[in-house]
Amino acid sequence: MKIWEEEKQVYIRAAMEQNSAEENEQLKKELDAIDWSVLDHIYRKETVNERGAFAPLAAVEQAEIASRRDEFMELGLDAVRAGEVGAVLLAGGQGTRLGLDRPKGTLNIGTDRTLYLFEQLICNLKEVTDAAGAYVPLYIMTSHINDQDTRAFFAEHAYFGYPESFVKFFTQELEPACDYEGRVYMESATKPAMSPNGNGGWFGSMVKAGLLSDIRKKGIRWINVFAVDNCLQRIADPLFVGATIAYGCQSGAKVVKKAAPDEKIGVLCTEDGKPSIAEYYEMTEEMATARKENGDLLYGYGVILNYLFSEEKLEEIADARMPVHVVEKKIPHLNLDGELVKPEKPNGYKFETLVLDMVHMMDDCLPYEVERGREFAPIKNLHGVDSLDTARELMKGCGIVL
Ligand code: UTP
Repeated sequence: MKIWEEEKQVYIRAAMEQNSAEENEQLKKELDAIDWSVLDHIYRKETVNERGAFAPLAAVEQAEIASRRDEFMELGLDAVRAGEVGAVLLAGGQGTRLGLDRPKGTLNIGTDRTLYLFEQLICNLKEVTDAAGAYVPLYIMTSHINDQDTRAFFAEHAYFGYPESFVKFFTQELEPACDYEGRVYMESATKPAMSPNGNGGWFGSMVKAGLLSDIRKKGIRWINVFAVDNCLQRIADPLFVGATIAYGCQSGAKVVKKAAPDEKIGVLCTEDGKPSIAEYYEMTEEMATARKENGDLLYGYGVILNYLFSEEKLEEIADARMPVHVVEKKIPHLNLDGELVKPEKPNGYKFETLVLDMVHMMDDCLPYEVERGREFAPIKNLHGVDSLDTARELMKGCGIVL
């Protein structure tokens, strides 16, 4: 049965009743191209997130990093110079919490001067490429929603001084969004509401975009994946790369010491003997508060969405299925009268795979401790926790002129 023949799909059916025959032909084509099995995840919500046995995983702490700094730095810079390190900027999200209707990276984070988030990230990357005397290939993931705007923004600003030939864009896929009963929302009379499918599909999307040959041709062995919204993000950090190589690991994750047992941050640990990230809501009270002999939290290091993966291993797991997370979201849509509704609070689900689930597909992962005040200033909201306000304060603390 076609989706528009299902009685429960009231939004699709209402749009079809009001559409012209021509519009409906267009809509049917659009709907036929979508794999609707994703909607089944609503009913499997609990089982998808069923987890194994968690155990703590010791981090490489700052004191050790400081004592082995020269060794790590040399290994990392050598890898960058040899062209073995690539970077992937995850910029396909919608930034709904920030309320922007354009790419998050175009946000002006300056106060007395204009400083775009994208600009600051390129500036952070340039610190590394200047030190190495070599450029790092940068791949930027967008979605079909923000791709054109993102490309245009980089072009308009001359790639903020980074060589254009080292930057490549690729788009991630979208998935339908629905209400709590699985009824697909309509974005317009001829289009269902679609949302980016999460940041977990980045490598698959790169492969689909034909970038694997580029990666192989360039001889990239390590890929650093990072979020768009942390303006203190260190990209292709030679110390991090060097430490992951020195430890003989397949992957690494930058982590920060948890500020409090109940901090809402995913913790890097093991699950059934393999590296894994336990989300804050998956931790029992006992796990969250357990302490080591020295008083530190046993599950004490949270991830900040900055990972390093061996390219070889990524190719090996490229076709593996990833868990689908059902995420509540505010979904603008046409109501049954055909009027556009912009909800104030979540009104349905979107479907996402997450990069953090890739960690569990690795044989090992090095938790690499960084100083929160130096490397973690996420901008999720305009004000309050993890906001533009807090990020600006943190940036000032690092001596960045705003
Ligand atoms: P978030 O989880 O903060 O999501 O993304 P978001 O879509 O940017 O923001 P909200 O939740 O709607 O407010 C973390 C990182 O993953 C990227 C984002 O761009 C950000 O760098 N991301 C997220 C993608 O690249 N694709 C996605 O589908 C989702």
